[in-house]
Amino acid sequence: MSGGSEEGFETRAIHTGHDYVDGTGAVIPPVYLTSTFEYGNAGGFDYTRSGNPNFRLLDRTLASLEGGKFATVFASGVSAITAIVSTLKSGDLVIAEENVYGCTFRLFAQVFEKFGVRVNYYDFTQPAALERIAEEKPVLVWIESPTNPLLKIIDISAVSQAADAVGSTVVVDNTFASSYVQRPLELGAHLSLLSTTKYTNGHSDALGGAVCTNSEEWRDKMIFAQKALGLQPSPFDAWLTLRGVKTQSIRMERHSANGLRFAEFLEQEVKPKYVRYPLLPSHPQYEIAKRQMNGGSGIVTVDFGLSLEKTLQFVESLQYFPKAESLGGIESLCCHPASMTHASVPKETREKVGISDSLVRFSVGIETVEDLIEDVRSALAKL
Ligand SMILES: Cc1ncc(COP(=O)(O)O)c(C=O)c1O
Repeated sequence: MSGGSEEGFETRAIHTGHDYVDGTGAVIPPVYLTSTFEYGNAGGFDYTRSGNPNFRLLDRTLASLEGGKFATVFASGVSAITAIVSTLKSGDLVIAEENVYGCTFRLFAQVFEKFGVRVNYYDFTQPAALERIAEEKPVLVWIESPTNPLLKIIDISAVSQAADAVGSTVVVDNTFASSYVQRPLELGAHLSLLSTTKYTNGHSDALGGAVCTNSEEWRDKMIFAQKALGLQPSPFDAWLTLRGVKTQSIRMERHSANGLRFAEFLEQEVKPKYVRYPLLPSHPQYEIAKRQMNGGSGIVTVDFGLSLEKTLQFVESLQYFPKAESLGGIESLCCHPASMTHASVPKETREKVGISDSLVRFSVGIETVEDLIEDVRSALAKL
């Protein structure tokens, strides 16, 4: 699993940056809990808002794992999104996938649109979206693949080619896939964004975000945003995330194997209205997923076709899937979008985009998959 350099993904995950540890012989770098640095130090650090050894170790590792030259780390995925959008000016146009993460939508609608940034939303699974790029020539094209929670798969190479033709910058939110499963920069995107809170860290114990790129100009813009907007993570969260990312390949292999098995069980045995999983042949964009993803990751979205009451009763009686927001940790979780992440969206609007009352999103962890399946069987039997 090379990401473009000679060493494999796993070797880079574990060893990147080790030349950087100071002269103590510590195998694991310490947490640099310092707000400030003495002037003239060899690392060029001055103040943690604009850089810290823990950020640099994580930057280098994430850049390498995404197959890119640079990464800048932030306090959260939303901070990373803010950093990119803060580079826009009044009148600039963004074309975005209509199923983008809710907080991305909220940030555009309730913050940046106030400052004159314009955003048009399209369904990027349709060829018409590529025509919109050609005609509208946006400054940014903002996509996610897979999307949350419907797991639409967007053809990153096709979007990047269309954007290159008119000089637009393509941002791919790679959070649901992870660097192990998908590398947008290698598919032609200009920026790959991660909420490292999810699969990158993988242990649900730290928030973080990152923007990865091959462009020096974008790297400089991201470092500026980190410092000027105060979007930096804490050194301890950066340390935890570096610890987490070292095991990303084996976690993602298991998430993907469990995810596929869990999705097949639901489709074949439970036969709900539909099951969405990128590597199920029934997925509408299965061929694209096979081409651009190395595994299906761990999210499975299901429309059980049940009433709201029955769906909630089912979710509440699961033993190994606590109802919680977030995803991508080693432990399984489930989310009922209609009453949780999308509760503030009017029912009609939700249903128009496919977020029905009976939709459940599972974040399939790395537990013994037969236990997870049995859990679903017995929760359904109780209805
Ligand atoms: C696709 C996607 N992007 C970005 C974010 C935001 O990340 P964070 O919660 O770390 O701010 C999330 C969080 O759920 C997400 O699912």
